[in-house]
Amino acid sequence: MEYRYLGKSGLKVSVIGLGTNNFGRRLDADASALVINHALDMGVNMIDTSNSYGDGYSEEYIGRALEGKRDKAIIGTKVSSAVGDGPNDGGNSRQHIMVAVEDSLRRLKTDYIDLYQIHWHDPHVPIEETLRALDDLVRQGKVRYIGCSNFTAWQVCEAAWTSKTLGISEFVSVQPRYSLMDRGIEAELVPFCESYGVGILPYYPLANGFLTGKYRRGQNAPEGTRLAESDRGMFTDANFDLLERLEAFCEARGHSVLELAFAWLLANGAVSSVIAGATRVEQIISNARASSWQLTSYEIAEVGGIIDAVMPGN
Ligand SMILES: NC(=O)c1ccc[n+]([C@@H]2O[C@H](COP(=O)([O-])OP(=O)(O)OC[C@H]3O[C@@H](n4cnc5c(N)ncnc54)[C@H](OP(=O)(O)O)[C@@H]3O)[C@@H](O)[C@H]2O)c1
Repeated sequence: MEYRYLGKSGLKVSVIGLGTNNFGRRLDADASALVINHALDMGVNMIDTSNSYGDGYSEEYIGRALEGKRDKAIIGTKVSSAVGDGPNDGGNSRQHIMVAVEDSLRRLKTDYIDLYQIHWHDPHVPIEETLRALDDLVRQGKVRYIGCSNFTAWQVCEAAWTSKTLGISEFVSVQPRYSLMDRGIEAELVPFCESYGVGILPYYPLANGFLTGKYRRGQNAPEGTRLAESDRGMFTDANFDLLERLEAFCEARGHSVLELAFAWLLANGAVSSVIAGATRVEQIISNARASSWQLTSYEIAEVGGIIDAVMPGN
């Protein structure tokens, strides 16, 4: 397994990470532990969760699975989503963050969170209030690094400027939606992260599993898979056209489209870890092995050409 620095921090994370939004929802404690243990065995240390996944059970199952081996994992969790009905049960206020962090630490059965991420930008709370609360947690030793998620380039830039001006902890990472099928962040956020050393943790890197090739044009989704519940608007002709052209590109080079999904993201040095979700042991094993393909600049250009031809403006 290759490890990269998380942005300009000194923290090394595995280039293949583990996303856990299925834990506590589609996976019970034992199934989650099985995936986590195999991930650790394969050298995956980056585990991404949130206080909202599975209504808190994702954190809880991770905490149980990591008992006795907490030091093997880098846990990234999040705060911001509403976790109750009260007026302060969500958002990015000092009030909510201070309560939520204690709940996450308890569920995770740990006394520190490696990466504490603000899940969503909150237009009602000054970024200074949020960053000062996070900085206090860093100084208390409850949190080691801070990051954000679903922030636009100007929002990450505003946060960086605020932290610098105040001399307090800065976001070392941002977690946006990013994959071969969703390149919306390339215009603004990616160049910002490259210039300022902010690590990118792409979510939906496999487009909810579509980029594994297990969904076929004109066929029902395999039973038990995520897109069997709802196709989330993925089963369009344009998406299958793109998938099939990418598959042809990969087959000609002896690789799979799954490998391309990881390799293409990792070809960008600002991407620190690709936190794909996995529901089965076989998935985490093949994902952990998928990072070995190093795309050449010609191959990257060719893939870009394929995407532009099928989905202009993507
Ligand atoms: N910050 C945010 O707002 C945000 C939002 C969404 C997600 N996330 C994070 O990002 C992570 C990644 O996103 P995601 O898990 O939603 O989507 P994803 O990584 O694009 O897709 C995950 C799905 O792909 C399938 N899969 C994975 N590896 C496979 C393999 N080798 N072969 C066949 N199928 C495979 C699994 O589907 P099946 O379920 O069908 O087995 C899995 O549930 C999440 O787990 C979560 O930690 C963050």
